[in-house]
Amino acid sequence: MVSKRQQLSLITGIDIGSTGIRVAVGQYNQEDSVEASIKIIATGEVSSEGIVKGSITSIEDAVSAISCALEEVDRLVGVPIENAWVGISGTQILSKDNRGVIAVAKSDGEIGYEDVSRVLESTQNIASPLNYEVLHVLPRAFTVDGQTGIRDPIGMTGLRLEVDAQMIYGATPHMKNITKAIYRTGIEIDDLVLGIVATADAVLTQKQKDIGVVIVDIGGSTTTIAAYEDGTLIHTAVIPIGSNHITNDIALGLQTSIDIAERVKLAHGSCAQRRYTVKDGINLIDFGGEDQAVRKKFLAEIISARVVELLEKIDQELAAVQRQALLPAGIIFTGGGAKLDGIVEITKKVLQMNAGYGYIRGIQSATDKINDLAFTGAIALVRWGAVMQQAQQKKFSFFIPGSKKALTQMRNVFKFLIP
Ligand SMILES: Nc1ncnc2c1ncn2[C@@H]1O[C@H](COP(=O)(O)OP(=O)(O)OP(=O)(O)O)[C@@H](O)[C@H]1O
Ligand SMILES: [Mg+2]
Repeated sequence: MVSKRQQLSLITGIDIGSTGIRVAVGQYNQEDSVEASIKIIATGEVSSEGIVKGSITSIEDAVSAISCALEEVDRLVGVPIENAWVGISGTQILSKDNRGVIAVAKSDGEIGYEDVSRVLESTQNIASPLNYEVLHVLPRAFTVDGQTGIRDPIGMTGLRLEVDAQMIYGATPHMKNITKAIYRTGIEIDDLVLGIVATADAVLTQKQKDIGVVIVDIGGSTTTIAAYEDGTLIHTAVIPIGSNHITNDIALGLQTSIDIAERVKLAHGSCAQRRYTVKDGINLIDFGGEDQAVRKKFLAEIISARVVELLEKIDQELAAVQRQALLPAGIIFTGGGAKLDGIVEITKKVLQMNAGYGYIRGIQSATDKINDLAFTGAIALVRWGAVMQQAQQKKFSFFIPGSKKALTQMRNVFKFLIP
């Protein structure tokens, strides 16, 4: 249990998926460095209602599901959660490159935090695509008086500061629906965050991002990828295939129900066909079905076909940015769907790339959910929140005034709607 005073140091992340809504609460000691100072103290999880492919299809259902997940953590923490960092995902995200330029403020030309904030803000002078608003401005590189390729310009001297930034936009109706659903549960939003970016920051090392890596979050209905090189995000995409497609394939292949197919997948799902002989088998009667024998080799064949299709789609995304089989740190899997047996092996074989799992790095935890790939998103949001708070204290942040302002306005509107 935490006291009222300690509540100030609580950071909550909410990951709204189409299969599950997951909440993680971290306690944060502001004196320490970010990683050393966060400890995950509670997690909550409920099945999703009213959410399809990351988008809200019924506000009412989404509100009650999110409320249930919050109640679960409230009980564990001992005080009600009041605010949270909320991850957004799904197909309603757009990204584009923009350039910003400012004159350095100080007369001696030394570049400070304020200049960097201002130049990032100036990227928004270019209008957002219609019906989209800025979610993040991710700087790729700065230019000081014509010298390009600078990662951190603070402390340098110059008259003109430029930035090449990647703009991440979210569809306005999508963002409004999520905001509305969260406010109706009675909590405040610290900020909306593109889930995969927070996840990448929490599981990848700087070295992986420098040499080239792609993070792949396999969810229920979608797979989200983000590729990094030279330390910056080079590509992000949402593929409309997730682990539920595997369940559907099993149901069709074995002529059984989705529920039984899901149970079979969780207990015996694998894409390692070679491991099984004709003797290895299961019976659907053990999973609530009819008396029907199934060869594990056949099951693995069904699953592999869909996994290979997903891997080919990932390959196409890499080809779109000319990085096919070229990212040396390989493919890093996370999300509930990544728990499928044999996924790393099949990836190495099909894509000829290095592959591994993306577990949260360097955060303490009182629960073993930190090692659950389905919880990576929620815990990564807690870490993101802590990093942002620390940056804000230093008066330096890549916070987007646009989305903050929009949030404040929405908050004022939705306050009236909270029951
Ligand atoms: N041990 C396991 N083996 C295979 N698949 C698994 C395992 N555990 C969970 N899954 C699958 O992972 C999927 C859910 O993943 P996750 O909880 O990350 O999705 P989500 O974030 O809710 O969905 P989305 O990201 O599409 O909105 C389900 O299809 C589930 O069957
Ligand atoms: Mg997810």
